[in-house]
Amino acid sequence: MNPAPSLAVIGGTGLYALADLQDVETHQPVTRYGALSGPVRVGTLDGRRVAFLARHGEGHSVPPHQVNYRANLAALQALGATRVLALNTVGGITERFAPRVLACPDQLIDYTWGRVSTLCEEPGTEVLHVDFGDPYTPALRRRVLEAAQVAGVVLVDGGCYGATQGPRLETKAEIARLRRDGCDLVGMTGMPEAGLARELGLEYACLAIVANWAAGAGPDPDEAITLQDVLDNVAAASSGVPALVSAL
Ligand code: HPA
Repeated sequence: MNPAPSLAVIGGTGLYALADLQDVETHQPVTRYGALSGPVRVGTLDGRRVAFLARHGEGHSVPPHQVNYRANLAALQALGATRVLALNTVGGITERFAPRVLACPDQLIDYTWGRVSTLCEEPGTEVLHVDFGDPYTPALRRRVLEAAQVAGVVLVDGGCYGATQGPRLETKAEIARLRRDGCDLVGMTGMPEAGLARELGLEYACLAIVANWAAGAGPDPDEAITLQDVLDNVAAASSGVPALVSAL
C-alpha cells in the first residue's frame, strides 16, 4: 500500500493537473460538507506521495464563489495531508507583480461576501476564533521559498493578496481602492480557503501566479484583460511549478 500524502496541492485557473505524477490513485470522497470540486489525484512525485485537486474542477466548471472550500480541504486532510500549497491565479496590482511573476504572499485582505467561511456553522461545532494575524503558515512559506531556490524558480517573497468575490473582474476604481488598502495581488479564491485551512489546523501557503495586470494597473491602463492572455501567462509562468513542488 502507498503511504498517505502529507502534501496537498490545490490547482487554480489554468492548472488542472500536476505534471509528472506517477502511480496515480483517484479518490472521490464525499465529506460531511458535501461534494468536492472534483476527484483528488494522489500520485508519486520524486518518491513522495502528493495529493492534487483542481479547485474549479478538472473542466473548470465551478466558479470561485461556489467552490466548496470546506469539502475540498476536509477531504485532503482526511487523505492524510497536513500541508497545503494553494496555487492561485491572480492579477498584479503593484510593480513587482507583473504578468508571469510567481509570488508567495504573506498577507491578505478578504473582500468576499456570502461564502461559507467557517467550520463553526455545523450544529454542535465548537466556536473557533483562530489566530489569523499571519494568514499563511510562516514555516511552510519558508519551505516554499527554499524549494523555489533549490528548483531554480524565481519567486517573489511576500505581498498582500486581496480576495474579491468575482466571477467578474474588478473595475479600475476597485483596483485603485485595493492598491490604497495595500494589496499587491488580486484573486477570487484566496478566501475563505486560507481561513478554513487555519480552522482545520492545516499548514497552508499560497503560490500566486500572476496572469495579467489587474484593471487599470498596468503600463497601459486601458488594456483589456482577455482569457487567452490569462491562460498563456499562467502556462508560461507555471512551467517551474512541478520542480518547485518536487523540491518541497
Ligand atoms: N482579478 C481577480 N482575479 C484574477 C485576476 C484579476 O485581474 N486575474 C486572475 N485572477
